Amino acid sequence: MSPAQVLNNQHYLSSQERRESNARSYPRRIPIAIKEAVGITVKDVEGKTYFDCLSGAGTLALGHNHPVVIEAIQQVLTKKLPLHTLDITTPVKEEFVEELFNSLPKEFASRAKIQFCGPAGADAVEAALKIVKTATGRRSILSYQGAYHGMTHGSLSLTGNTGPKEPVSGLMSDVHFLPYPYSYRCPFGQGGKTGEQICSQYIEHVLNDPESGITTPAGMIMEIVQGEGGVIPAPDEWVRNIRTMTRRREIPLIVDEVQTGLGRTGKLFAFEHSGIVPDVLVLSKAIGGSLPLAVVIYDESLDQWSPGAHAGTFRGNQMAMAAGLATIRFIRNNRIDEHASCMGERLMSHLKAVQKDYGLIGDVRGRGLMIGVEIVNTRLRPDSLGSYPADPKLARQIQQECFDRGLILELGGRHGSVVRFLPPLIITPEQVDQICHIFAEAVQAAEKKMVQTASWRVNKQE
Ligand SMILES: Cc1ncc(COP(=O)(O)O)c(C=O)c1O
Repeated sequence: MSPAQVLNNQHYLSSQERRESNARSYPRRIPIAIKEAVGITVKDVEGKTYFDCLSGAGTLALGHNHPVVIEAIQQVLTKKLPLHTLDITTPVKEEFVEELFNSLPKEFASRAKIQFCGPAGADAVEAALKIVKTATGRRSILSYQGAYHGMTHGSLSLTGNTGPKEPVSGLMSDVHFLPYPYSYRCPFGQGGKTGEQICSQYIEHVLNDPESGITTPAGMIMEIVQGEGGVIPAPDEWVRNIRTMTRRREIPLIVDEVQTGLGRTGKLFAFEHSGIVPDVLVLSKAIGGSLPLAVVIYDESLDQWSPGAHAGTFRGNQMAMAAGLATIRFIRNNRIDEHASCMGERLMSHLKAVQKDYGLIGDVRGRGLMIGVEIVNTRLRPDSLGSYPADPKLARQIQQECFDRGLILELGGRHGSVVRFLPPLIITPEQVDQICHIFAEAVQAAEKKMVQTASWRVNKQE
């Protein structure tokens, strides 16, 4: 193949299909080869530009190739700084930790210890499990239905989605799943404030019941906004109740902010909305400023594990620390969390306007720039709350129509029926408007196709 030869998307996709594993996922729905990426857009090898509302599954807080990130990376290279140091310290690491701790509420940071992990959220979740199990000497863990904590054996055990769990035997035992306050599909058939209160009461009951079947937990892990589970924000009061219950019983509370951390929900950390302080905080994605980095930050009282208890070769990625430092600094200095909150409100109000015109949009929800649109099938019977069954096929069609029009969105939630908006936090009001315009067109086109298919089926049957 000569370098001058222009290769199209299909060339790369065929090669990828031939060589890469069957477990690959995104390329199946986003079938392009990306050549360039700037800000909130990516360009494929054929020259087509897309708005990227997936942003590396929430990693790219400042979008692609932000100047402060590029500058930080270049500095590492030009100053001949070490690229890799295991967990040996460096001036870059020191500055990164200082900036990260300064971004946390004082109450938490003043008592905090940090552990650098292998560079993935899942490894930081594994570390969190070991921290609380070691410190408490207990073994059971509480998690939530709809939770996503990663794909390693331990983190997958804490994850709600049974799809990737079914084929894997021997996952971590003693994990117990509690109901999450998912108002639109309330596990108690109530929704709203009543559903939320019953959910708290139920959890309190489980914790009090000597015959719940659950031994005193080593910890409870939760997301403040469930991301992969369908963008479900927990109400602040519910979060406070959970904190009170866990604190009273000395159950360490692990807050997983791998996806929500660093401004995504409109606050630097999502737990700040409710005013709680976790015992353990898991961070990854945005803190590496586009590069792989993961840490766990926890109360010093839990620092009871031994030297080497959570080793891992790639804990010392200096470039990621430099890029992360630049990112955290930029977010704090420019109040990007507040910007995310404003842009999120704008996006939400546009999406709610689209919802008014289309019954197939069952729910629009989220916090800051983490928004989900749940697609439903209005031809089927609604449940007692009036919520229609999920329509994954239609959600997929809407995703496809968006993609064809230059907008990359991902699906999540139960049955993959929630269209997820996860744009870079630096998105402008004009870009929000453009994205929503594309989305509205895509919904219209998908609905039209659905109606055509349905009438074709009826005609065929007649
Ligand atoms: C809340 C949460 N926890 C953990 C993870 C796992 O992170 P990683 O994919 O980097 O292992 C994710 C990934 O999306 C996540 O959203």
